[in-house]
Amino acid sequence: MIPVASPLAQFSHYQSEITDAILTTLKEGNYILGHRTASFEQAFAGYCQAKHCVGLNSGTDALILAIRALGIGQGDEVITVSHTAVATVAAIIAAGATPCLVDIDADYYTLDPDKLAAAITPRTKAIIAVHLYGQAADLDSIMAIAGRHGIPVIEDCAQATGGFYKGRRVGSTGAIGCFSFYPTKNLGAIGDGGAVVTSDPQLFQKMRELRQYGWNDQRKTAAPGINSRLDEIQAAILSVKLPHLDADNRRRIAIVDRYNKAFSELPVARPKVRGETTHVYHLYVIQHDDRDSLRNHLAAAGIATGIHYVDPAHRHGGYDKIVRLPGEGLPVTDAVVGRILTLPLYPELSDDEVNQVIAAMQTYNWRQR
Ligand SMILES: Cc1ncc(COP(=O)(O)O)c(C=O)c1O
Repeated sequence: MIPVASPLAQFSHYQSEITDAILTTLKEGNYILGHRTASFEQAFAGYCQAKHCVGLNSGTDALILAIRALGIGQGDEVITVSHTAVATVAAIIAAGATPCLVDIDADYYTLDPDKLAAAITPRTKAIIAVHLYGQAADLDSIMAIAGRHGIPVIEDCAQATGGFYKGRRVGSTGAIGCFSFYPTKNLGAIGDGGAVVTSDPQLFQKMRELRQYGWNDQRKTAAPGINSRLDEIQAAILSVKLPHLDADNRRRIAIVDRYNKAFSELPVARPKVRGETTHVYHLYVIQHDDRDSLRNHLAAAGIATGIHYVDPAHRHGGYDKIVRLPGEGLPVTDAVVGRILTLPLYPELSDDEVNQVIAAMQTYNWRQR
């Protein structure tokens, strides 16, 4: 079966560099917040065109710390989308705030700026723009609306590490950029990991303190924090992979070019790319009227597929009563969930495997409906 993503293929590709880095770290004997985390943080901040980075335990923690560093908590509202990894919404709740969900743009699957202004209330304290599937949200429009109301923007870059929006890396436009290094992500650890980037020294200091019990450099606390440290082994692994990330993302784009050409005559909606953005295709998502039948056909041909996501946050039992929705609901989000299908895509996918995916798509009986 060709998988949707393969952290194992990536490990095999960089195996000797990664095992060397792990062994050296083990022999150094310092496993938490040593020089490897510090140097990864510096490299990753530079890569993201930001001044500072704090390495963390996960992308969810990155969002929680970003929200808390902005002074947001009980009684406050944070606007984001429902069509995202449920982690985005879980983080708002974990920080004590109420998620107010708005609809997505039908073309790009990202927050629809036309729906944003109507969702803002006096309690709105932040907007989380999710760069879904690897493509930046419409940051100029979102930043303009947020700016008029004096509301900070957090970028959820978990799926778009290395992507660009109008010449800027994702994560460098809003007040804080949040990243996940979950193993399948474009920059993946071998375990959990995440980071925040910012160019604001005060937010940087707050997030550093929140990451470790609220401690400052003298181990004194002004506010309680949590434990969310990126460990030295994961930092060593990420430091091996970061220099290869742009090449890996280019390989993703090259595979997508092949898919797009091969599927151009098929009755599927292919991903659209917003002008002046570099989509780094964490996921290649198409739409089809009879998604489940296409999915079954591909499975029979040895091609795994995914659905990102089966349930938007406002349809999750654990979240539906907590989130706030606009009066008209989320019609675009509700319309796409039954049609979307994620095909295999990762840098190590061979040309032969790409051919197999294309062949399986072409042998589907497109006329059966
Ligand atoms: C858009 C988005 N936000 C946040 C997260 C949370 O990241 P993590 O799984 O590292 O906590 C993810 C990862 O699943 C994600 O895709």
